[in-house]
Amino acid sequence: MTQNNPTPSRFDGRVVLITGGATGMGFSAAELFLSEGAKVVITGRGEDRLKTAAERLDGGDQLFAAPADVSRPADLDRLLGAVTERFGQLDVVFANAGVGVFKRVQDFTAEDVDLVVDANFKGVFYTVQRALPLLRDGASIVINASWTHHRGLAIGSLYAATKAAAANLAKTLASDLADRRIRVNSISPGYIDTDMFQESVPTPEERAASARQSVQQRVGTPEEVARTVAFLASDAAAFVNGVDLLVDGGVVNAIPA
Ligand SMILES: NC(=O)c1ccc[n+]([C@@H]2O[C@H](COP(=O)([O-])OP(=O)(O)OC[C@H]3O[C@@H](n4cnc5c(N)ncnc54)[C@H](OP(=O)(O)O)[C@@H]3O)[C@@H](O)[C@H]2O)c1
Repeated sequence: MTQNNPTPSRFDGRVVLITGGATGMGFSAAELFLSEGAKVVITGRGEDRLKTAAERLDGGDQLFAAPADVSRPADLDRLLGAVTERFGQLDVVFANAGVGVFKRVQDFTAEDVDLVVDANFKGVFYTVQRALPLLRDGASIVINASWTHHRGLAIGSLYAATKAAAANLAKTLASDLADRRIRVNSISPGYIDTDMFQESVPTPEERAASARQSVQQRVGTPEEVARTVAFLASDAAAFVNGVDLLVDGGVVNAIPA
């Protein structure tokens, strides 16, 4: 007689917060963590986007979707208060929310600078800071940076600098939070086919040119990034700390043949 004895999933009983979880890489990460047993919290600014994402994820009691602008500490405190009531703790934070504005340096407005710095730097900083009381000792934080902080990209000055700052936080926070055994790493995705990519690389010709920059001659998928995030969040990465992991099909480190 065979016994029904399912293998435990990697994230059974763990609680994962994903900022920017309604779309793109955040959404794919939410799907993956839910499928591996986690309770998942997704947040973002757009309430309709969150509602649609929650319907698609169909996570029942395992899923909590609520709005917050990560650049506003008061929003995060309100969100995390609700998470405390709902799930009581956090085991993983994927600080993923971000925006891109790509222009020649002379064309940026002060509003552009505030928007990008607020989301990509302050947002990551406040997400981690405000989540700390809820994070259990031994938790894992993954920050979404970008390949653009590894190489110069003409229209990327503002975006890349904020991503360099976000990746730097992974190193310094790995040290700062070591007394609580909290690991902090960042990822640097290459060109990944999401709304942000479609909007910032609008024509088929430009997208083909982006694909050609990878030695794999294609753009990546949000699911491929989600699998990397899950690895860093999992016990398999127990000794991986303070690194920035490229998920870029070789854009930064290899030259297409
Ligand atoms: N796609 C690429 O090629 C690529 C490459 C490298 C790195 N990245 C990074 O990957 C991350 C995810 O982007 P994506 O490509 O998956 O694009 P995306 O679908 O546009 O996702 C960005 C998410 O961030 C949320 N967001 C933006 N500003 C926010 C704020 N202030 N507060 C809360 N949520 C906010 C957005 O939701 P709301 O608008 O509803 O708030 C959206 O869900 C970003 O940090 C991006 O910089 C992307």
